[in-house]
Amino acid sequence: MPDDTAMGYENILLDRDGPVGVVTLNRPKVLNALSPALIAEVTDALSHLEDEVEIRAAVLTGGPRVFAAGADIGDMAERSPVDQLLRDQTGRWSRVASFSKPLIAAVNGYALGGGCELALMCDMIVAGDSARFGQPEINLGIIPGAGGTQRWPRTVGKYVAMEVNLIGGQVSAQRAYQLGLVNRVVPAEVTLRVAVDIARQLATKPPLALRLAKESVNKSLETPLSEGLSNERKNFYFLFATEDQKEGMRAFLEKRRGEFKGR
Ligand code: CAA
Repeated sequence: MPDDTAMGYENILLDRDGPVGVVTLNRPKVLNALSPALIAEVTDALSHLEDEVEIRAAVLTGGPRVFAAGADIGDMAERSPVDQLLRDQTGRWSRVASFSKPLIAAVNGYALGGGCELALMCDMIVAGDSARFGQPEINLGIIPGAGGTQRWPRTVGKYVAMEVNLIGGQVSAQRAYQLGLVNRVVPAEVTLRVAVDIARQLATKPPLALRLAKESVNKSLETPLSEGLSNERKNFYFLFATEDQKEGMRAFLEKRRGEFKGR
C-alpha cells in the first residue's frame, strides 16, 4: 500500500487505519493555510482512497492544534481575476465534496475561511472543544469562494449565515453544536479518535448503500422534494440488485451480523 512518502506529499500526511483512511493537513507553521499544492495533495489522496476497495470511510483532520486557517493569503494577495479563473483554485476543492465514501472532519482549533468550507464539505464533523468556525473573508475584502455563503445557510439558516459571512466572527464548538453544524463536541485530545471510531463504525456498513445514502442526502440540498424523493426511490430499488442487500436481510432473519462486500 503506498504511503505518504512514496506519494511524495509535502503538505499532508496520508495514513490508513484498517478500513479508514486518514488525511492530515500538515503545514503547522502557517496554521495549515490551504495552498494550491496542499489542496492538490488532498484531492490526490482522496482519489487514492476512493480507488482502494478495502478503504470504506475517511477522516480529514488538521492535527491536534488547528484544522486550517483558510486559503493561503500570501499566495492569493496579488492574483488577478484571470489568474484566479485559470487556476480555478476553489473549483478544484470540489473533489473533496464529491468523494463518494463517508468523510468525517476532525476539527481542533481554527477552521476559518477555506478551512471552515473544507470541514463543511465533509459528511459529519467532530469538533474538539477548542474548535472555532468562521468565514473571516469579509475582513480581507473578499467573500468565501468554496461554499461558505452556500453551505452555512443550508445548514444553520439565513440569519446565522448572514452573521458569520457579513461580520466574519468566530463560532465556538459549543455554539456550532447547538446550531447543528457539528455532530459531536469532545475534549480536544480525543477528537481524531472519536472521528476514526465513527468512520470504523461506518466501515462495517454496506458500502454501496452508504454511497447511495450519502448521494441521496446531498441531493436533497439541491433539488425540489419531488425530485429528491424520486432519486431516493431509484436508489432504494437499485440496492435490491446488490449482494449486500440479500446478505443484510438474510442476516437479520438468521439473527446474525451481516458481512458486507460492497457488491
Ligand atoms: N494564509 C497564510 N498564512 C496564514 C494564514 C492564512 N490563511 N493564517 C495564518 N497564517 C500564518 C500567519 O501569517 C503566521 O505566519 P508567520 O509566523 O510567518 O507570521 C502563522 O500562520 C501564525 O498565524 P498568527 O501569528 O496570525 O497566529 P494567531 O494565533 O495570532 O492568529 C488566526 C490565528 C486568528 C487564525 C490568524 O492567523 C488569522 O486571522 N488568519 C487568517 C484567517 C483568514 O482570514 N482566513 C481566510 C482566508 S481567505 C479564504 O479562505 C478564501 C476562501 O474562501 C477559499
